[in-house]
Amino acid sequence: MPSLKYYFKKARKEGFAIGQFNVSNLETLRAVILAAQNLKSPVIIGTSERESQFLGMRQAVSLVKTFRKETGLPIFLNLDHGRSFRYIKKAIDLGYDTCHFDGSKLKLRENIKITKKAVKYARKRDILIEGEVGFVSGSSTLFTKIPKLNKEDFTDPLKAKNFIRQTQVDRLAVNVGTLHGMSSSGRNPRVNLKLLKAIKKAVGNFLLVLHGGSGVSEKDIREAIKLGVVKVNVNTELRVAYSNTLRKVLRGNPKEMVPYKYMPKVIKAIEKVVERKIKLFKSNNKI
Ligand code: 13P
Repeated sequence: MPSLKYYFKKARKEGFAIGQFNVSNLETLRAVILAAQNLKSPVIIGTSERESQFLGMRQAVSLVKTFRKETGLPIFLNLDHGRSFRYIKKAIDLGYDTCHFDGSKLKLRENIKITKKAVKYARKRDILIEGEVGFVSGSSTLFTKIPKLNKEDFTDPLKAKNFIRQTQVDRLAVNVGTLHGMSSSGRNPRVNLKLLKAIKKAVGNFLLVLHGGSGVSEKDIREAIKLGVVKVNVNTELRVAYSNTLRKVLRGNPKEMVPYKYMPKVIKAIEKVVERKIKLFKSNNKI
């Protein structure tokens, strides 16, 4: 099967983005795989440190491997927001396909130092590393009020350029106005396309990643992909579909005790969200 590197190159050339869908249990993972299968799309499964602890890192690796073998689909596993070299190393050693080192809270010099170390370790094992310059705030849940965005957290195009040159990282997560999580109204702040354009101008054809994909308008996502975004991360919309459907199903059927009878509706709801995103990212029929 072609590598993740191959699919990123293809995405850049053909103008689509690969969705990273975060999971912490088998039901959500199954829903993502079903959507990818229906639409013949490459997908990245993401687990943050806490999601990986809940699911189990070894379990995540073997589940993804099993689904890859069974479906023949290009499914890749990414450690999302790894916060230390130790955790990144652990993920690589256990069989993750790619890792995101999130040093965005560190001083830039320290961020560069650890990213470089991660890249060195990963490259020898043919694993890709995502770095981050700028800080994407929030957490993947619903907000009644959107937290105020801090302009200083936005990615500085020149810093991004230097970061790439110094770390030799494979792709870069940028903050162009998105945040983790979603307003309960369903509408999040607009993507700063002007800033994204400036970043693209500074870094050329480099692979860019958009975090905080939930609640972003479809128009902004399309424009961002045109401007070089090849990976979009989505978590909250999946969590909301999961939790709200489960609540609804159990409330409507308080005597039902059998998970395999009530969970299919939950899986279906997540599958639909993922299908909508895959079509939006235009990664359908790209395997
Ligand atoms: P959302 O929860 O806003 O979709 O963001 C997910 C994300 O960026 C994971 O890294």
